[in-house]
Amino acid sequence: MNNVILNVDTGVDDAYAIILLEKHGIRPDFIVASSGNSHIENAITNTAGVVKILNSSVPVYKGSSKPLVRDAYYEDYHGKNGMAGYNFNYAIDECENGILKMYEALKRKKYTIINTCPLTSIALLLLMDENIEKNINEIIIMGGAFHSNSYGNGNVGNAEFNIYYDPEAAKTVFNSNIKEYIMPLDVTMNPDFSVKNDDLKKMKDTGVIGDFMHKTLKYMVERYNSFEMHDPIATMAYFNKNAFKYINGDISVDSNGVTTLNENKNSNKYVACSMDKSEYIKSIYGKFFN
Ligand code: RIB
Ligand code: CA
Repeated sequence: MNNVILNVDTGVDDAYAIILLEKHGIRPDFIVASSGNSHIENAITNTAGVVKILNSSVPVYKGSSKPLVRDAYYEDYHGKNGMAGYNFNYAIDECENGILKMYEALKRKKYTIINTCPLTSIALLLLMDENIEKNINEIIIMGGAFHSNSYGNGNVGNAEFNIYYDPEAAKTVFNSNIKEYIMPLDVTMNPDFSVKNDDLKKMKDTGVIGDFMHKTLKYMVERYNSFEMHDPIATMAYFNKNAFKYINGDISVDSNGVTTLNENKNSNKYVACSMDKSEYIKSIYGKFFN
């Protein structure tokens, strides 16, 4: 057991993050599927579908279905069903409450949480019990845009989607005393770390995983010319933290979801500002492509 919990809004890059962890022999104790990229039903079906094609027995539980106080905001960035139209022909009938499952699990032992979606489910967990954060080793968060370089400028206005979707939840999590590693667009939007059309013919996976990867990636690169591996880069920070350079500081979030970093050497928040390309090739690209 790795003492890892995933919180995802499975979309295409979330799916690749789950597959990447499996390729590194890292299996979460369970996965919480929350709304964000798509409606909660799609997030659950897509997450369960990825677990199924991996022949994994990892449980999938239901996370938050809307932001803490705002209306849900959806784009069809990942296609109508949130998975580039890919149909797993598989669905789980009932799905237990993932926020309660996280709470119960954390009462038993300490976990690292890898969060590749809006932070609503994590905020609800922290709001349940002010002491539960003591049992969280660290949270690794794909999110934010800190304008630390030419890549960190936001993908929903000046905000990054996961924060934009629920700024109040993000504030709650960033204001906690939990050690957090934030993997923002400043790193993930670097074109050195995205997948392009030419990569399709270099894919390693065959069988059902190869079929899934090829069809979903083909949809995304044809629609957007390239596809950023936001969430796999966040999961890489779990097993290869030294591949990144960080700025240590306190994070503020405005009502539009725009994030700002105020440098503070005593903070336990670490915002990644760059990634070593050879480490990316070794940890991510080389796992999916020849
Ligand atoms: O802004 C990119 C993030 O928003 C990724 O996690 C993507 O899956 C969406 O959730
Ligand atoms: Ca995501």
